[in-house]
Amino acid sequence: MSDKRKILIQLDSDPQPSVFDRVVAIDAGADEVFSYGGVRPEQVRDLVHGAIFTRGPKDLKRTALFVGGSDVAAGERLLAEALRHMIPAFGLRVSVLLDANGANTTAAAAVRAAARHLDLKTARALVLGGTGPVGQRVALLLARQGTEVRVGSRQEAKSAATCTAIRAKVADGKLEPAAAGTPAEVQAALQGRSLVIAAGAAGVTLLPRSVRAASPGLRVAIDLNAVPPLGIEGVEVSDKGKEGDGAVCYGAVGVGETKMKVHKAAVARLFESNDQVLDAEEVYALAQSF
Ligand SMILES: NC(=O)c1ccc[n+]([C@@H]2O[C@H](COP(=O)([O-])OP(=O)(O)OC[C@H]3O[C@@H](n4cnc5c(N)ncnc54)[C@H](OP(=O)(O)O)[C@@H]3O)[C@@H](O)[C@H]2O)c1
Repeated sequence: MSDKRKILIQLDSDPQPSVFDRVVAIDAGADEVFSYGGVRPEQVRDLVHGAIFTRGPKDLKRTALFVGGSDVAAGERLLAEALRHMIPAFGLRVSVLLDANGANTTAAAAVRAAARHLDLKTARALVLGGTGPVGQRVALLLARQGTEVRVGSRQEAKSAATCTAIRAKVADGKLEPAAAGTPAEVQAALQGRSLVIAAGAAGVTLLPRSVRAASPGLRVAIDLNAVPPLGIEGVEVSDKGKEGDGAVCYGAVGVGETKMKVHKAAVARLFESNDQVLDAEEVYALAQSF
């Protein structure tokens, strides 16, 4: 068995690499965290080479990459670039986790919460703020489970583009765009839905209480916004499976506990083999244990 220290190499697109991600890495079992901030795609090759050319293939599972930063699109570019510079034919690769802005672990925890109360294969969902990094991943994970997903946005064209992007990954995904910029539009989009997940921007209410009251079929309401005013009026930030206005409610802190467990499990998983790429769906698979 390898006795090399477990090294997590943090590639963060923000100038200052996230302290949050470093602390979680240590708590998840990394012995050392090498943090790089302001990482640009053209710098990734040398960082990956430093990771894969130092230890022999049998020890490379003790080295892994974590891609973070507040800009999820930038994180996706860093992940793609990192994978491009691995050399799997010679066993020269390391495992990678993408969790820029906490998007993958948050979406996985939210969908896991919904799955505790609904059969996702038959559920019908509305994802508010469904075009953002977290919302897109929520919609992807739900579509993969067979849920009928309406992707809400202030601009229907934007949600149509999100649906198209998700269908490229889930060909049989049941997705439809929905305008959700006004209370009347949200009310229409919520018709016939058993699940709503609000993944809108921090500090913006997307679902007013009056609209919820007009949607008696709603069984589960999950809000990921922790900054007042909250995303779903009537769902408290610490709600965790609490009944409210006829639905089971989760707030951002309620979901956040599972998110933390998933985040730690995902980092720990990196050190089990050197060939893993943990993006939304792989992270959701890990969330099944919580
Ligand atoms: N609990 C946790 O651990 C955790 C971790 C990460 C993130 N979060 C929270 O999860 C939520 C989603 O994160 P994110 O990074 O995906 O959010 P985001 O990109 O800031 O916003 C998501 C979507 O909200 C809509 N939006 C933006 N400004 C708006 C406004 N003024 N009024 C109405 N809609 C607006 C936009 O969609 P359209 O333009 O298409 O309408 C946008 O795509 C945030 O509240 C974030 O704080 C929680």
